[in-house]
Amino acid sequence: MQPDNWEDLLRKINPSPEMTHMVTDNTLVKDIDHDGGASRATLWQHEERASAYDMECGGFGREMQHESGLAWAVVRSVSDFGFDKSNAESGMRTASALLAATFIREFIASGISKSHPRALRPAQTTSPKLSPQQHYSQHSASDYFANRLSDEFGFSLPVSLLSRELSLGDVAIHLSAQGLDRDEANRFLEVLRVEYFESKYLEYDYSLDIRGYFGDYWYQEIREMLAWYGYENLVGRSLLDVGCGNGLEIGPLVEVCSPSDVTGVDLSRQMLARARERHPEMTTIACSADALNGIESDSVDAYMSLRTYMSRFFDVPAALREAYRVLKPGGLLLISIANGYLDYSADGAPHVVTGLKEVGGSSFVSADRPFELLTRYHRQIRSLGFERLHVLSKLTDVYIGALKPGASDARRTDSPGWSNNGLSVEH
Ligand SMILES: C[S@@+](CC[C@H](N)C(=O)[O-])C[C@H]1O[C@@H](n2cnc3c(N)ncnc32)[C@H](O)[C@@H]1O
Repeated sequence: MQPDNWEDLLRKINPSPEMTHMVTDNTLVKDIDHDGGASRATLWQHEERASAYDMECGGFGREMQHESGLAWAVVRSVSDFGFDKSNAESGMRTASALLAATFIREFIASGISKSHPRALRPAQTTSPKLSPQQHYSQHSASDYFANRLSDEFGFSLPVSLLSRELSLGDVAIHLSAQGLDRDEANRFLEVLRVEYFESKYLEYDYSLDIRGYFGDYWYQEIREMLAWYGYENLVGRSLLDVGCGNGLEIGPLVEVCSPSDVTGVDLSRQMLARARERHPEMTTIACSADALNGIESDSVDAYMSLRTYMSRFFDVPAALREAYRVLKPGGLLLISIANGYLDYSADGAPHVVTGLKEVGGSSFVSADRPFELLTRYHRQIRSLGFERLHVLSKLTDVYIGALKPGASDARRTDSPGWSNNGLSVEH
């Protein structure tokens, strides 16, 4: 459609005042992002070379996410929808963006939400709060630590302090300031951390989890990442699963790897025992991701860690250094960050809440939080010297992959994504 003038076009579109506001001052992406533009900044941070076009796609993707519950959507040809680029008249560009935005709104309303009824939920314009009965609301690390420290030593560390992104060492300093011997504090906190994860995850299964809601979709996401790196077949290759918990995730993965090649690492011996009950052939090691004791340098083909890097008291830089150390040259690093919760509304119906809880044991879920963490990890992974960083944002998780340098050229493939700059945004 090539309308003669943009007023004409606007009359045809008849946009809502909100929609007009979104595009008239050329801050489409910023205004479309209900969380104050953070996702635009985040896109820039993922990939400094992201173009305005990438960001507009990202912004529309975010809008669709708010509207439909989908994690991401690829939107092509947004701002110049159907128009001759040589026409620099700003009204025309505004109108074209309006047309695209309206089209997408219509598309969401009449297409995607109908074809994905499970994704239907009210527009998420503010950070939603998880219900108090929700599994994750009931297991706040800050509460757990505050209560146990009070029971054991009579200490009163405020929950507000424990809610910050502290390391165990930071907490130990506070305890020693209250008179506890520093080594004893460290030992006690290590034990407490294991206790805490066991209280939360020993009996955990995917019925509590957005991954269970979408069937085996989460597993297809992982396979997609593996395939991107040419690691779709892991049989005969060593797989290290860091934060393997009670071993659930190895289940579907046995389609592509042999459990005897899998080593599961977790802080909790009890959880590792559960994992071995599920998969007796696998090897397990009880240690922390930041000190992979007993795992030789340059020995692992693929290092996988699902939903563990964002755990409380997790030392991400140290864990990444360990990942680099244990991987073989050319070995694959694959990390996921949870990108949603399953919550239950008052009538008991499950619904999807996209994002991650805000820092601080809060029950509020921020749609930007997974991407903030991703940005942080991305920088650290790159600064360690990993190559071919690849980000994939999916319905249940956000993934980041990379290779330790030294791969033979034969394994290197071109990116199959729409973007050739390492950033893929798909639903
Ligand atoms: C959120 S659960 C994820 C479990 C499983 N990977 C999944 O995706 O369902 C995090 C797991 O990581 C473990 N964990 C947390 N911090 C760890 C650390 N520093 N080193 C090793 N494991 C850790 C916990 O014990 C827990 O089993």
